[in-house]
Amino acid sequence: MNNKPRIFCVSNQKGGVGKTTTTINLATALAALEKKVLVIDLDPQGNATVSVGLKRQQGAKNSYTVLTGRDRLEDSVVETNIPFLFLLPASKELLGMDIELAGVEKPQFFLQKALSQTDQFDYIFIDCPPAVGLLTMNALVASDNVIIPVQCEYLALEGVADLMKTIERVKRNFNPNLSVHGIVMTMFDVRSNLSKSVVSDVKEFFGRMVYDTVIPRNVRIPEAPSYGKPVMLYDFKSVGAQSYIRLAAEVLKREKELICHG
Ligand SMILES: Nc1ncnc2c1ncn2[C@@H]1O[C@H](COP(=O)(O)OP(=O)(O)O)[C@@H](O)[C@H]1O
Ligand SMILES: [Mg+2]
Repeated sequence: MNNKPRIFCVSNQKGGVGKTTTTINLATALAALEKKVLVIDLDPQGNATVSVGLKRQQGAKNSYTVLTGRDRLEDSVVETNIPFLFLLPASKELLGMDIELAGVEKPQFFLQKALSQTDQFDYIFIDCPPAVGLLTMNALVASDNVIIPVQCEYLALEGVADLMKTIERVKRNFNPNLSVHGIVMTMFDVRSNLSKSVVSDVKEFFGRMVYDTVIPRNVRIPEAPSYGKPVMLYDFKSVGAQSYIRLAAEVLKREKELICHG
């Protein structure tokens, strides 16, 4: 398969907003369509790694050793139990990246460089840590698209304006290809008026940038990682799984529109 992968990073500097859940489930939905998908776990916490039933690699090949150029991407990617879904695991060593790369020239380009070595995947999803440090910078510089999960809660947009500014800056200085693919509203509580007003506020502010699919709060979603499975495989019929399938369809549809309309 010789093609250039479409690269998405899932980012929001706020923690606990659904970045990892969105990464894993979009990746799984596309893998189910027999697209070859790579998830890159760029968060030292390694939640994406655990969510597909694998362990954070310490010392072995992982996103840290690939970023720092010690290992090649294609030697470091591991298979998951899910057909067509591959993972570049995280390592705690990622915690030291900001300090380690501080004096290095062009430290924003490490991931882009590593990813340019592969033509084996149709899609790459990068799960970002909850901070706009060097790791997120590397993810933005390496990506075509950013997906921003926003939790349906008070202060939902806190930090999103800063992220948008960072994206503009990366676009201007390092990666003219970069665009915000969409904002996904997560953990929507059907019984809460606050949830509804947050969604309508965010839609009013960001317009069509917000995906139509809203991800509801669903208990099956936090249960799934403890079984090392994406919710789609843990409980396919759950509303959590079904909403992520709808979101994946919407992401693909938007992707086609973007390609057709330049
Ligand atoms: N739609 C949802 N319904 C219920 N719990 C959710 C939902 N989405 C995420 N969670 C849970 O919320 C927590 C934070 O989600 P996560 O995806 O890890 O966020 P982040 O990567 O932004 O820190 C996790 O325990 C996750 O299982
Ligand atoms: Mg996470």
